[in-house]
Amino acid sequence: MNSIMFNYENPSYFLPVKPPILSNEEKLFYLNKIEMLLKSRNAVIIAHYYTDPEIQRLAEKTGGCVSDSLEMARFGNSYPAKTLLVAGVRFMGETAKILNPEKTVLMPTLKAECSLDLSCPIKEFNSFCNDHPDRTVVVYANTSASVKARADWVVTSSIALELIEYLSSLGEKIIWAPDRNLGNYIKHKSKADIINWQGSCIVHDEFKLAALKNMKRIYPDAGLIVHPESPKQIIDLADAVGSTSQLINAAKQLPHKQLIVATDRAIFYKMQQVVPNKELLEAPTAGEGATCRSCAHCPWMELNTLKTISDSLELGGSKHEININPALSKAALLPLNRMLDFAKKLKN
Ligand code: 13P
Ligand code: SF4
Repeated sequence: MNSIMFNYENPSYFLPVKPPILSNEEKLFYLNKIEMLLKSRNAVIIAHYYTDPEIQRLAEKTGGCVSDSLEMARFGNSYPAKTLLVAGVRFMGETAKILNPEKTVLMPTLKAECSLDLSCPIKEFNSFCNDHPDRTVVVYANTSASVKARADWVVTSSIALELIEYLSSLGEKIIWAPDRNLGNYIKHKSKADIINWQGSCIVHDEFKLAALKNMKRIYPDAGLIVHPESPKQIIDLADAVGSTSQLINAAKQLPHKQLIVATDRAIFYKMQQVVPNKELLEAPTAGEGATCRSCAHCPWMELNTLKTISDSLELGGSKHEININPALSKAALLPLNRMLDFAKKLKN
């Protein structure tokens, strides 16, 4: 084994400083300005469910999209606008740029990281892959362009299980990265031969079993829906497990009138639209004596604000525009296109 090991327990990243809270006057000012800038730049907003409700509302109102990471990639790829404003985290903007090199891809801030992406540096990951040359490399979309370029396949949580089942049926052995919880979940469900990178999501990894059990005692009739980036003990109790879009769907399908939701709480905005008569409850991220760092909201998603969206549309440039080395982009496009083709086949 020649792997350069990554220190998972002590990853070297800091959480961002919270952005300033805007007054109602400032919000109105930026909302009007953004609508004007979207028109003049022929731009559209593509937002993730974890961005703040006012951003999701704005994306809907202006003809953009609010969705999970797979649909964000598909929407950007098919929508004719010249400029894509991606409100989410950096890997989402990079995916949009790799799929649409001819379009301008802007982000409210390029500092919107993802703990999964940060926990999978290319040097260490490459070395890990080189130690297992007989394995197919499947990486989650929550990775850098370089890690994608090293992979055979990119996938999002909404089709990860189906893809691994397919590859396993072909007799392929797999490297999965970077999320250990999603990797373990898929391994358990598919019985595929998988070795797992040990990254984790700062939001989902914090859901706590003991506190959840207490909560279930208080709400005995509530259903539990869980994103698969959560720890196994939480997934084991779930009535439904899935990507953000699949969780919104499950909220509708499940008979429960109350639902405990183990994912970023910003999803409540869209979920509540779909189930207006159900009560949505946040799954606990801190047990007795424990503290939470993310407290069920992604600290990097929070950097998307009306001000930073307005600035990015107005100023563009090196603080906002995604640029990727063309050779790297070309290499990362291959596994991304495989993902989109696979998703299309599943749909049909
Ligand atoms: P989805 O693909 O389910 O939207 O997940 C993206 C993500 O970052 C979850 O933490
Ligand atoms: Fe990454 Fe977790 Fe934030 Fe999703 S919620 S973007 S996985 S840190």
